[in-house]
Amino acid sequence: MITIISLALVCLSLANNVYTEVSRHQIFATLGRNVSLPCRLSFSDGFSFDGIGKRVKWTKLEDPNDETNVLISMGFHKIIYGRFENHVDLLEADQNDASLIITNLQPDDFGTYKCEILSGMDDVVVEIDLRMGGVVFPYSPRLGRYNLNFHDAEAACWSQEAVVASFEQLHQAWIGGMDWCNAGWLNDGTVQYPITKPRQPCGGNVAAGVRSYGRRNKTNNHFDVFCWTPGYNGKVFFLDEKLTFLEAEQACEDGGAELAKVGHMFAAWKLQGYDRCDPGWLADGSVRYPISRPRMKCSPTEAAVRSIGFPEKKHKLYGAYCYRG
Ligand SMILES: *[C@@H]1O[C@H](CO)[C@@H](O)[C@H](O)[C@H]1NC(C)=O
Ligand SMILES: *[C@@H]1O[C@H](CO)[C@@H](O)[C@H](O)[C@H]1NC(C)=O
Repeated sequence: MITIISLALVCLSLANNVYTEVSRHQIFATLGRNVSLPCRLSFSDGFSFDGIGKRVKWTKLEDPNDETNVLISMGFHKIIYGRFENHVDLLEADQNDASLIITNLQPDDFGTYKCEILSGMDDVVVEIDLRMGGVVFPYSPRLGRYNLNFHDAEAACWSQEAVVASFEQLHQAWIGGMDWCNAGWLNDGTVQYPITKPRQPCGGNVAAGVRSYGRRNKTNNHFDVFCWTPGYNGKVFFLDEKLTFLEAEQACEDGGAELAKVGHMFAAWKLQGYDRCDPGWLADGSVRYPISRPRMKCSPTEAAVRSIGFPEKKHKLYGAYCYRG
């Protein structure tokens, strides 16, 4: 699953002594998948470069002062550097295309890439911010906080159409602003939690960061879990009625759907901006609602999937969030 977000930022940089427009994109992609970073000449007069004068340079910007060479192509010569060998190539979909393909994405592939096409006439510079896609969400079951050993944690994420998150995924979520005060299992057997707003009750007023309890005993120790889902092609929708849990389940089925899993809800909220200020049943018996635009009475201070816990299933107070694949 790959989404191109914005072309909004355009600025000028000095390259080859002429001012060249730098366009910036953000791309979200999933670990283990292949991704194409778009870069191409787009001459309105139909000019295209042939093999001869073509010079393409891809670099990765490790930090502002450190550019690592990824690939350079000149005429018919192509050099791929270091760890990128057998890992990247040019797409070359047509004469004007210099897009970079990265296969089997690894954690250290994420970051900012720069593409330069030097044609001697109109140079092109594109910067692409490659970010890890998908959604990380904390999960605790009906039993309450800190009830899952590692194996229960794996099953819990699985039941929500997700998997236990990796440290890289939780770290990316923290960079994206995630703040959660309960510790959860990660897939390496460590237990950690992300804090962006340090405060006394959540491990004290020390620096923001992903805080770790280290590796824990997978059988004997009990925590919550961080699950990860890549997102879905289906649709989450709300039934605006007052229903018991069983009625909610039936109502979704009647509509050719199923009660949404927690993973469906987080994906709809994070990846599609789903926003609805009405609590509704989900498949695990929890009642939640997704807020993308914080406002009075519906999560006033932050965008979040709000939970009101696991009410009694016979309560006829809530609507239903259904998922149709
Ligand atoms: C990625 O590309 C490689 C080489 O073209 C291919 O063998 C592999 O199946 C692709 N992987 C995915 C997840 O599409
Ligand atoms: C976890 O705890 C159990 C019971 O105390 C013990 O038998 C097992 O060796 C421990 N596992 C690890 C990896 O320490």
